[in-house]
Amino acid sequence: MSTTQAVQTQTPSYAEVVQGRRSVRHYDPSFTISRDELKDLFAEALKAPSSSNLQPWRFLVIDSPELKQKLLPIANNQQQVVDASAVIAVLGDVESYKLGETIYNRAYEAGYMPEATRDMFIANSTKIYGNLPPEIARKIVYTDGGLVSMQIMLSAKARGYDTVPMGGYNAQKFVEEFKIGERYVPIMLIAIGKAAQEGHPSVRLTVDEVVRWNEFDF
Ligand SMILES: Cc1cc2nc3c(=O)[nH]c(=O)nc-3n(C[C@H](O)[C@H](O)[C@H](O)COP(=O)(O)O)c2cc1C
Repeated sequence: MSTTQAVQTQTPSYAEVVQGRRSVRHYDPSFTISRDELKDLFAEALKAPSSSNLQPWRFLVIDSPELKQKLLPIANNQQQVVDASAVIAVLGDVESYKLGETIYNRAYEAGYMPEATRDMFIANSTKIYGNLPPEIARKIVYTDGGLVSMQIMLSAKARGYDTVPMGGYNAQKFVEEFKIGERYVPIMLIAIGKAAQEGHPSVRLTVDEVVRWNEFDF
């Protein structure tokens, strides 16, 4: 297996990235994206917005061939799980408010917020997020997890890689087999790698079919 450098040197435009991204299901199994490059990609994707900036996303990167094989049946035998360089499990931490102090203190130390605001944010986030009904807490991490997932996919495309988001897996089995703690909600899997075959084109509803102005008269 070869560890390979970034596949492209020229940064594509935003339009090229967005127009060019497709779900890719066939990958070059001999191609490895280095962990360093994946870390760079994550650093970019982590710029995604999140509720109260609590950044509840956590990731399990599965890049070991044995573990990819273990994941294969859990993910309905979707071949991309083993052929892609890695599969990123996007997880949402429903107790991410416990890191509020760290986050807001970091913002304070960076000079982004005064001390009083930091203290207010810490107190409020602990009070509000610490007492949410479980369904609301899950909804929040799904929303934030979706945003960061999209950033991962676009960041991958900008680097010359391809991805496919996957909801087609047994989440219950996944948390059991990969020993995911109870506070973490599986949001989606993302296979990432070097395409062996282009993704097939897909259609979209038109803007006029999905957008209304001021009056939501669907
Ligand atoms: C939440 C989610 C779950 C998905 N699950 C799967 C999946 O399990 N397997 C798969 O091959 N594609 C999956 N897809 C990819 C969609 O089929 C694909 O995004 C859609 O057909 C549009 O095609 P495009 O991504 O190439 O634009 C999923 C997409 C999303 C957003």
